[in-house]
Order: sequence, then C-alpha cells, then structure tokens
Amino acid sequence: MTTDRLMALDLLVSVLTAAAWVSAGVAAAARRTRTTAALFAVALVASLARVWSVLALAGAGWWFVQEKVTVALPLLFAAAAVATALAGPRVLRAARRPGPPSGAVPHGVRTPAVVVPLLGAGYAAAAGLVQTFLVGYPADPGTALLLLAVVAGAVLVTWRASGASVPGLRTATAATAVAAVLGVTLTFVPATEGTAAAAEGAASAGAGAAGAAGSETPSAHGGHPASADHSVSGPSSEGHSVSGASASVAGGPVRPVTALRGPAVPPPGGAVRRFTLTARTATVTLSSGRKVAAWTFDGRVPGPPITAVQGDLVEVRLRNADIASGVTLHWHGYDVPSGEDGVPGLTQEAVPPGGEFVYRFVAAQAGTYWYHTHEVSDLGVRMGLYGTLVVTPKGAAATGVDLTLPVHTFAGTTVTGDHDQPLVRQVAPGTPVRLRLINTDNTPHRFTLAGTPYRLVAVDGTDLTGPGTLGRAGLRLAAGGRYDLAFTMPAGPAVLRTDDRSDAVRLTPGPSGTGEGAAGTSTDSGGTGDGTGGGSTATAPTGDWPELDLTRYGTPAPTPYTLRSRFDRDFTLVLDRGLALAGGKPAYAHTVNGLAFPDIPTEVVREGDLVRLTVVNRGRDTHPWHLHGHRVLVLSRDGRSPTGSPLWLDTFDVRPGEVWEVAFRATNPGLWMNHCHNLSHADLGMMLHLAYEGVTTPFHGAHGG
Ligand code: C2O
Ligand code: CU
Repeated sequence: MTTDRLMALDLLVSVLTAAAWVSAGVAAAARRTRTTAALFAVALVASLARVWSVLALAGAGWWFVQEKVTVALPLLFAAAAVATALAGPRVLRAARRPGPPSGAVPHGVRTPAVVVPLLGAGYAAAAGLVQTFLVGYPADPGTALLLLAVVAGAVLVTWRASGASVPGLRTATAATAVAAVLGVTLTFVPATEGTAAAAEGAASAGAGAAGAAGSETPSAHGGHPASADHSVSGPSSEGHSVSGASASVAGGPVRPVTALRGPAVPPPGGAVRRFTLTARTATVTLSSGRKVAAWTFDGRVPGPPITAVQGDLVEVRLRNADIASGVTLHWHGYDVPSGEDGVPGLTQEAVPPGGEFVYRFVAAQAGTYWYHTHEVSDLGVRMGLYGTLVVTPKGAAATGVDLTLPVHTFAGTTVTGDHDQPLVRQVAPGTPVRLRLINTDNTPHRFTLAGTPYRLVAVDGTDLTGPGTLGRAGLRLAAGGRYDLAFTMPAGPAVLRTDDRSDAVRLTPGPSGTGEGAAGTSTDSGGTGDGTGGGSTATAPTGDWPELDLTRYGTPAPTPYTLRSRFDRDFTLVLDRGLALAGGKPAYAHTVNGLAFPDIPTEVVREGDLVRLTVVNRGRDTHPWHLHGHRVLVLSRDGRSPTGSPLWLDTFDVRPGEVWEVAFRATNPGLWMNHCHNLSHADLGMMLHLAYEGVTTPFHGAHGG
C-alpha cells in the first residue's frame, strides 16, 4: 500500500477509535447496556487496529509516525487501560445480567465509574487526532503536556457533570493547570528562544570561514558595485537568521549579497542581450477576445519572451510603472549570481512604482526557463507577472518549429501563451518540432501529445539521456517545472492537450512558415480520429493514458554524486500543515518541521559542500519543492533511485506520503530561497532560506516574496 493510502487508513482508524470510545460512554450514560458492551468491544478492537496502522505507516519513515508513537498511542493506551480496569468488569456484569429485551436496565452501566472512563478514553483518542492535525511533526514535550492537560481537564469536567464527587478534585485540577501552564511555556517560549538561537547561529555563520575552495562560477566574478537603486537599509534587528553581519570576521571573508552580481561584459564570443520590461496593470485581450484584468510586463501576458544564446550576457532593465506592491524579477531555474536572483528583502528591495533595477547574468545554461516577480508572488504571478526565458545552445542551427508554451490559469481559464483557444499552426511534414511546456501555475498540469510519437528530451532545462519514444503517455508537469518535447512533424495532425480537456496546440500538416491559423478553425476533437502515427490519433481521448514515471524514463548515465556519496550537510524538511506563526501571525500554516516562515531555521552551507536534502510530505497537499540558484540531482523517491536518465530538477513535486532525497554541490554562494512553488503555500509559511557562510544581506531579510 502506498504511504498516502496508509495515512488515510490510519486516519480512518483513529476517527473510528475516538468515535467508538465516545459512543460507548454515551451509550452507558443512556443506560444502553448491550450497546455499551458492544461499543466497548469495538473501541478495544479499533484501538488495537491503530497499533497496526501506525506500525504499517512507520515503514515509510519515522517522520510519518513520530507524534503517534511518542504521544497519541501512549495517551490512548493509558486511557484505554484505565477504562478497561474501571468500566470493564461493571459493563460485563451488567451485560450478563438478564434484563428487558431492549437491553436497557435500570442501573448498572449508568454510573460515573463506567461513563467517565469510557468518555475519557474517547477524549484521549480524539486528542491524538487533534495533535496530528494541529501540531504534526515533530511532537515535542510542550504540546504533549498541553494535550494531556486538555484531556485531563475534559475528564474532570465530565466527572463533575456526572454528579459524582471527585476524590482529590483540588489536587487534580491543580495538576492539570500546572501541566497546561508548563505545556504552554514549553510550546511557545522556546519558539522565541529558537529564533534568537537562529540569529546567533547566523551571526556565527557570518563569522565562519566562508568556503574552503572557491570554485569558480560566473557569480564569483561580477562584482560591479551595487546599482544606485539599492536602497540599503540597516542590518536587521528583527532577529532574522540572515541578518547583516559586520565587516570582516576572523576565519573568512564576509560578503554582502549585493556584491554577488553578474558581470558587466559578456565572456569572449558572447553578445549582450538587452531588454527592458515595464511592469504595469493592463487589460489583456486573450485570443478569443475575452478581456482579463492583469498585472503585466509591457502590457502583455505572458511578458516579452527573453531569449539568448549560451554565452551571451543578458541584461534586463526592470521598471515598475504602477504595481503598488512592488515587483522583482526572479529567474526560475536559472543559476544566476545571488544578487541577481530577485528576492525582495533578501537580495534586493522590491522595485516600487517609479523605480527600476538592472539584472545582469551570463546565459551559461541552455534550455527552457521562466521569469516571474517574487514580490507578493502568489498574487503577482497569478495576475500575470511572468514570462519565458529560453537559451539555445551555442552553434545550434535553428531549424524547424520551436514553440515556447507557458501554461497559466486566469480566473479559471487555462491559457497557453495568450491563447485561451487552441493555438493552430501549419507545419510541413518532416519538420523537426520542439514544444517547450512551462507550468506557471500553483498546481500540476497533465499534458498529452496525440497524433505522433515523440520524446521528452529535457526536464527543467536539462537534457535527459537516452529518452525513448513515447506514445500514449500522460505527462504530469509540476508547478514551476518545464518539459521539452521533440518530434518530427507527421503527415497528419498532432495535438497537445492540457489536463485531458482542452486542445492547447494543434499542428496541422501543410506548408511550413505560414503563420498561426485562426483559432478554432479546425475540427473539434472527440470524433473518430483521422490522424496517424504514435499508436494514437490526434483526436483520441487521452484521459486514460498512463502517467509517465520520469524516474524510469531514459537511460542511466554517470552522475557526480550518488546515494552512497559522503555528504557534508544533510537537511530534512518535513512538510505538513499545523498551527504556527506565519509571518508573525498565527495561522493554520503550511509548515516545515512544524514551523512557518520566517521561523524555520536557515540551512547554512559552506561553498563546495555536497548537500543532501530529504523532503518528506506528511500532508494531504502536493508540494512542488523549489530551491533557488541550484539544480538538484534526484537520489531517490520513496527509497528507490531513478533507473532511467539522471534527473536534474529545480522543481520536484513531492506528493502526499512521498519522500525525496536530492543532492547538490554548493557552488553558487549567496542567500537563496528554498520553498514550495505552490505560491499560496509559500505565502502561508512554506519557505525558508539557504545561506552560504559569510554572505550577508543589508536588507531586512524577513521577507521572501
Ligand atoms: Cu519560481 Cu522562488 O520561485
Ligand atoms: Cu506546497
């Protein structure tokens, strides 16, 4: 059974357990003797079943059961033991006594000695559920005590309400109160101490030796002075973990992130590609004529495509006309120098209306990428502040048809580029075609390509090795991720479909070079197909096509590190939901190790480190995990290493119950966001920083966009 299923099963058993104990207590209070006895038995069986479901779940990893094993089960079994000892004999005796056919007897089970322990066991079982939902991983002594106090308090109240006198009521009440106070103290006070400790840690991080061997990356050159539009605020006093440290410290250089900039001139042989993007609100007309109110770059959605040849210098001047909340440019998946990364409050201030910021970086990586604002990014990207970045390899002759297809959802309508209707193109049979799919939404999209065999040649900008021919395959693309598909135009039509509903792109055979056809002119899908090739026709229904497992696609190739490598740093991120302070406000947050931004400790690395990240999803949402400034190599998913092509990703979809191990070499010094690319989750706490020792920020640091 998958971990996801086991989590659901355990949840079901927990609910059943709590319900059985509580109803047994209620039945006893209602003098339903036989019912009480039956429910008592069900409760005992359900409690034992929980041991089994928790044990089964433990097989997926300690993270999935930690709070259940250390708190929920002990609490449940303590309460169940008391209930069995106190209520058991009485219930048995009453049930054996012959009574009226209805099973009701005048006395017997309706005594506090039966009702209270049964309800108490119900409260204890329910407390475990509450803990899983509100606290999650990791359970700590503070929340355990708090939970214990709540259960004890509820038992005392029930006992009093039952009319019986409670022996030692005062002592019990006092003990409960003490447990509650202690629990609250342990739960909430260390949080502030923890922040202070994190700040201290960062100070020492600033003080620490920055990097042994400085491997040369483009970001290591750079170094033209920070542009005037950096309004530099003082070092943080907010106790944030990457606060600005002072100048030089024993052991290593201290560099502000603002010094980690791209070069002013391209490497030999490279050209300079200049762009100016102006962010402004606009009403955008989609291909169907439908108008949407959007936040745009240059009045269009998506923003102007940025293209370059590998080795060029890309220079983008960002201006903000009227986006009141401010705007930045983040180069998603592109390993730019940290000072060019566009994270407001960390690498720059957001550009206010009337302001500007110039980004410069060498287009070192070929492939399909995208850019987007990182200021109030959930809203900003949703409203349209994004565009594409495509870098072609040096010396590659441009042949065939190359379409860059950012997919986005505006108010419930999925658009491809600016098309809310199929994009129709005529392509001469035999022409090489490349489709670059980019998911700019918060949730995954599923793509199918019908009418032609094809290959998935690149993921997140990196070429796969030995990608085989695909036919009837569903391609699930993570939020923020990219897939490049390549094929030769067949004699019949080829259709790209999004989420098995709408045709996104229809390529029809015909003389190449003719522009886009009028949208909606070709026949609707759904009829009997007339396409050819690939074992599928262009109009075939695609909903039942099996999902391609990327970890088994392509052929293996050597990688610079593997599961057996020795890692200099090991970080584990357990993703869940729970009560936490998100941005200082109490929220039902999306949490990492039980905390929300900015309270999640910064991951500190040293230049040259080999770093392993283990990302565990114990929640019920999918989390597309995204680290800035580095691509990561997938080591394993659910304990299994990829058997196909090596997978270098910048955004990997961690589904409920999954455990991913990924690794990267820390060769791009700076301060980086590490976050969920469901940007609404990031907004609700699911982000943190990864900081290189010795790199500081002059900005407040407590914001990540
Ligand atoms: Cu595409 Cu931090 O994001
Ligand atoms: Cu998420």
